[in-house]
Amino acid sequence: MVRNAWAGSEEASAALPLKEIMAHVMQRNALQLWSWTTYLSDEKGNRYMAPGTEAEWEDAESDALTLAQIATSLKVADRRLDDQWDRYIGDLEVAALQSAAAAEKHDFEGLLKSANAIDARCVACHMHYVPELEGASALSRAKR
Ligand code: HEC
Repeated sequence: MVRNAWAGSEEASAALPLKEIMAHVMQRNALQLWSWTTYLSDEKGNRYMAPGTEAEWEDAESDALTLAQIATSLKVADRRLDDQWDRYIGDLEVAALQSAAAAEKHDFEGLLKSANAIDARCVACHMHYVPELEGASALSRAKR
């Protein structure tokens, strides 16, 4: 019989705290998606790192769909911090789905546009709940 390793343990149904999801799941996945639209400037000139092969476009689409699913998983009552939550997390979900649609069409302009839209959704929500995060260089954008 296949058995869930967590079954019976204290952690059985304990979802990660939001802070851990943000730091390890949301951030990590967003960086992975954003890596496809990183602007490079080196001896080979100035250009965007863009998906090239079919497999890379598939990976970009997978990264976007994963981010969308992360947003979807946070659109539940016990994650809601106030009545604005659904709008903020829903906006992120929409932007991530647009990114996935762009990747499916191999549309780099669309991928770039939605990468910026996703960034704006992260910032908008943080400005509402945790504005201190968006000060200094604490977040992702500084690392990109
Ligand atoms: C719907 C609101 C919302 C959206 C959208 C959102 N966040 Fe967050 N984020 C939060 C909240 C609230 C916290 C503070 C959690 C805490 O400290 O308990 C947070 C904290 C963080 C942190 C700090 C974690 C730590 O270790 O303290 C990071 C990094 C982060 N978010 C990344 C992102 C990225 C990247 C995105 C976009 C891809 C994003 N977040 C989108 C609400 C949001």
